[in-house]
Amino acid sequence: MSRLWNVAVVGATGAVGAQMIECLEERDFPVGEIRCLASSKSAGQVLEFRGKPVVVGELKHDSFEGVDIALFSAGGDRSREFCPSAAAAGAVCIDNSSAWRMDPDVPLVVPEVNPHAIAQYTKKGIIANPNCSTIQMVVALKPLHDAATIRRIVVSTYQAVSGTGKKAIEELRKQVADLLNGRPVNSTVYPHQIAFNCIPQIDSFEESGYTKEEMKMVNETRKIMEADIRVTATTVRVPVFYGHSESVNIQTERKITVAMARNLLKKAPGVRLVDDPAKGIYPMPSNTAGEDFTCVGRIREDESVENGLNLWVVADNIRKGAATNAVQIAEILVQKYLK
Ligand SMILES: NC(=O)c1ccc[n+]([C@@H]2O[C@H](COP(=O)([O-])OP(=O)(O)OC[C@H]3O[C@@H](n4cnc5c(N)ncnc54)[C@H](OP(=O)(O)O)[C@@H]3O)[C@@H](O)[C@H]2O)c1
Repeated sequence: MSRLWNVAVVGATGAVGAQMIECLEERDFPVGEIRCLASSKSAGQVLEFRGKPVVVGELKHDSFEGVDIALFSAGGDRSREFCPSAAAAGAVCIDNSSAWRMDPDVPLVVPEVNPHAIAQYTKKGIIANPNCSTIQMVVALKPLHDAATIRRIVVSTYQAVSGTGKKAIEELRKQVADLLNGRPVNSTVYPHQIAFNCIPQIDSFEESGYTKEEMKMVNETRKIMEADIRVTATTVRVPVFYGHSESVNIQTERKITVAMARNLLKKAPGVRLVDDPAKGIYPMPSNTAGEDFTCVGRIREDESVENGLNLWVVADNIRKGAATNAVQIAEILVQKYLK
């Protein structure tokens, strides 16, 4: 029998953590012991893995004894504080927060795009999982970049509330119910009402006027693609529960026609081409949520510039945008690197 690995899930009671546990199960990851960790208020709560109960423990510095892989999704502060302890105890951390993404000694990995970067995990014992919006965009763009060299990306996002975690899912649900019942709404997670609205602010603003989320898309894309691509982003929160959508405009060095793009995307790993506009077929959160694929459609030449192309890219932000990507990294780690 091949080796089993002890896996800690930090933030196991959250939106991403719960999906990580599900992904480990679905993908039949060779788990020996699973250790579910969260804050003190969840300690003692009982989750389930492969039909067996798992009691949630409180995240502490000594929580990682005997752990081989620690999947972190408990927010940046916890990752900053606890990844080094986990790494010191011998675990390789795969971190979903933004804490380590731009650290030059931490690889930022999307398995379909730069799996070779995983080798760099030895520097700090940490591998960063990119931002959800970045992951789906680079999965769709990598085959086009390899074929025609992308020079510039203009992206606008339509991001689901699950990207903000379980409290945001509850806020949208409650606001919709309140509004339909003629009650006033209360916003605590978002700066404005999210039900029946679009909020052109994700994360806080920087001095430049861009939000941190927008700059994550700019900087992470360049790091993952290992290319000097000019990127500009506008990120918007929309009242959708699961599934981020993106309007992506690219300019390439060499011309890429719609037919070429479709052919490349049809064969691309992790991509599903959903592009038959005459039949009203294109990706939407409603037909993508629950999938691990990044779905691409509405491919059109941008006639306003030379070598321009428009795409519509949708993926499940909790799965490919977070949990699935992390578990895929763990799979490569145990297949190629850990002994
Ligand atoms: N949602 C997404 O699409 C997405 C995508 C990519 C990355 N991420 C990142 O993943 C992380 C988690 O996101 P989420 O959406 O799952 O959030 P969430 O639903 O709010 O869950 C947060 C998790 O963190 C735990 N936690 C909070 N404070 C803690 C503490 N002091 N000590 C230990 N555990 C603590 C929570 O435990 P309790 O239940 O005990 O509070 C819960 O398990 C964030 O860093 C986020 O940026 C999220």
